[in-house]
Amino acid sequence: MAFGHEKIEKNIGLMAVLVAVAVSLGGLAEIVPLMYQAEAIKPLPGVKPYPALELAGRDIYVREGCYNCHSQMVRTLRFETERYGHYSLAGESVYDRPFQWGSKRTGPDLARVGGRYSDDWHRVHLVDPRAVVPESNMPAFPWLQETAVDAAQVTVSMKALQRLGDPYSDEEIASAAGDVAGKTELDAVVAYLQALGKHAPRGG
Ligand code: HEC
Repeated sequence: MAFGHEKIEKNIGLMAVLVAVAVSLGGLAEIVPLMYQAEAIKPLPGVKPYPALELAGRDIYVREGCYNCHSQMVRTLRFETERYGHYSLAGESVYDRPFQWGSKRTGPDLARVGGRYSDDWHRVHLVDPRAVVPESNMPAFPWLQETAVDAAQVTVSMKALQRLGDPYSDEEIASAAGDVAGKTELDAVVAYLQALGKHAPRGG
């Protein structure tokens, strides 16, 4: 046996192949069961595809790169659940494409931020973070309040998501442009932020 081991250690090609096999087996053991677990892909009760204004806000969130500083995943660690609330469940983010879980936290996790502040607080904070949090190093996003939501873009986003299987009705898509009419990008981002964590289980 000792001879066999030495042979592997001295043959980098063979070693690479065997390492790949070992890592793949470990990966499969983690991933395959998830594919067969219905809970992992089933929305939690009440979780629905984002309404037009929130979807627009979400697209702007992605466009502005908010995820570079904010995760949306509360981990199952005591200090996280004490600070943010119930840990994140897969069923909360089934309609998140692309998902915003992340691990980069220059700012706080936002998975449970909905309802924590007023709409007005968010408006001031996004336009000028230091007006409400003097020590903040979050960039300002003043253009959001001057830019109208692109209604055509929202409609196209909803159609694409419907094609991917999200249960949007044709009526919802038809009324999307009307739903965002007269709204600014700031309105959309605030609506999105206020909906985050809405369907989270209660308690820590
Ligand atoms: C360069 C990093 C950075 C980027 C990019 C960034 N933020 Fe922040 N954010 C922070 C920091 C740091 C804080 C904590 C200080 C504060 O509240 O301003 C914060 C705080 C927040 C809070 C308050 C969270 C809480 O629980 O108190 C919200 C909401 C928020 N950011 C939303 C956004 C949105 C929406 C975007 C994109 C449009 C964004 N952030 C982009 C760094 C960032």
